[in-house]
Amino acid sequence: MKPVAAVQDPLPLTGETLNLFAWHIPDLVAYQHHEDEWWFAPLDDNLPLIRLNRTGLDMLRAMNGHTTVDALLEQYGRKICGPDGQPGLWHLERWATPNYSLCYYGAEPPGGHRHKGKWDLLLQQIREGWSGQEGFEGEAHLEDFHHHELSQAADDDGHFDVIETTVSHLFREPNEALNGLTYGRLLMRQLRKLGWFTPKPRIIVEIGGGLGYVARELGKELLPFEKQGMTYCSLDITGPFLKRQVSRAKAGGWNAIGTQANGEALPFTDHSVDLVIDNENMADMTPVKLTKQELSSGRGETAQHQEALDWIRRARLPIGTDLPEAVIFNLGPIRFVAELWRVLKPGGHAFLSEFGIDEGWPAPVKLPGHTEYEVQYSHLRQIARWLGFQERYLSLPQFLGLKPDTKVLCTGAAYTIQRFCQAIDKPFIIRAYTEPELTQTLGDMLPKLQGTHYHDVADPAWFGLLDFKVLLLEKPGGAPKAQFTEQKGYRWYSQR
Ligand SMILES: C[S@@+](CC[C@H](N)C(=O)[O-])C[C@H]1O[C@@H](n2cnc3c(N)ncnc32)[C@H](O)[C@@H]1O
Repeated sequence: MKPVAAVQDPLPLTGETLNLFAWHIPDLVAYQHHEDEWWFAPLDDNLPLIRLNRTGLDMLRAMNGHTTVDALLEQYGRKICGPDGQPGLWHLERWATPNYSLCYYGAEPPGGHRHKGKWDLLLQQIREGWSGQEGFEGEAHLEDFHHHELSQAADDDGHFDVIETTVSHLFREPNEALNGLTYGRLLMRQLRKLGWFTPKPRIIVEIGGGLGYVARELGKELLPFEKQGMTYCSLDITGPFLKRQVSRAKAGGWNAIGTQANGEALPFTDHSVDLVIDNENMADMTPVKLTKQELSSGRGETAQHQEALDWIRRARLPIGTDLPEAVIFNLGPIRFVAELWRVLKPGGHAFLSEFGIDEGWPAPVKLPGHTEYEVQYSHLRQIARWLGFQERYLSLPQFLGLKPDTKVLCTGAAYTIQRFCQAIDKPFIIRAYTEPELTQTLGDMLPKLQGTHYHDVADPAWFGLLDFKVLLLEKPGGAPKAQFTEQKGYRWYSQR
């Protein structure tokens, strides 16, 4: 499924617009296809690549904050700017619209610290365009998206490359930032360190496993005899993804099964599961929008709103005094955690990871074709404790022990390079490339690229990894574990 961005009319170059200055966007990635042909990618990937000749390139370079739109029109307006034959005027009318986002016209610069917001505004506009709606998109929207709109998806990695790129997807190949491991293998090492594989979990359930890379890699990290007696069950709301999950889990050596269901109502009996793994799926679960009136009276206008208000009351979630007119509340993730409490065996565990916040109310995050919602972790944790869980909470980079200063290719640059590669029929997957890895992947193409740039993996400008959190849950009451202390290489066991 490809998102259709809202169509925007070209900008009329008249009146005040003529006096504005032009800036091309920072870090633009260009590909020199021939001696006199350079390619650029509009932000909206439904639009064809922009192909420029030297005149077009000069016009782009002249957008340095010192040239007005009028002067650019005067100099380049009638000149042919590329092999597709459009004159400068055609480009000048389009490049500053959000779909293109190749430049900005204004009285002041868009970049720098104070003005950064203007680039963000452009991005926000195009994101609104992806869905055609602002803000909240309704309580049934996410379920509909996964049930209906993704029915054709999952034949390749495209959905996760472009529509909802996830951390585990970016790290599905071994990566220097993860000590040369994949996300799934490192996750297994960390879960083992927590002691969650002693004793062996018999029933492992992965919720919302996407294309199944995590299942495969978790399996590869264990030896065949270690996996004996374990069942790996993939559960997903999207049928086509589920098939991939089960086949990749099998490729990882698991005794694998799958079930199509919603994580908010798990199809398992009480106390039947040992371990649950859930990566980047809670932001897809049902949000509700509660009004100030509902929050202050405790009375919901619908059954779903009442359910949310009952959770707030029971777990005594602080709602504050200065309430806005309406707030978003993570009903779905709370239903999910309540279901975990029901299905986990005493002593069972759950690993949950998703982007989120610790204070305030969740905000919508626009993605192509659908909107996700930040997880409000202080609410979720308070409810987990109210249910009886023991919980631990930390950032994903902390949990994984990521090397924060590993340099990886900017994700925006990766999307652009992927578009260039598609145009020349060269395979290129989206992932977190270090410089040597990109060099090896692109070979002869690399010297023809300009503007490729790298970020520290922990830099918010890369993927905002610090916003991704990990919630570790343990249901008390498991069989007592053999405890040991280590002294001079000897282990001294005691049974508590
Ligand atoms: C953003 S993807 C994450 C995929 C994968 N875990 C990863 O980290 O790349 C969300 C996944 O959860 C599934 N999903 C979304 N809402 C769900 C729900 N309510 N119950 C079960 N699965 C859901 C989607 O079909 C998809 O496989």
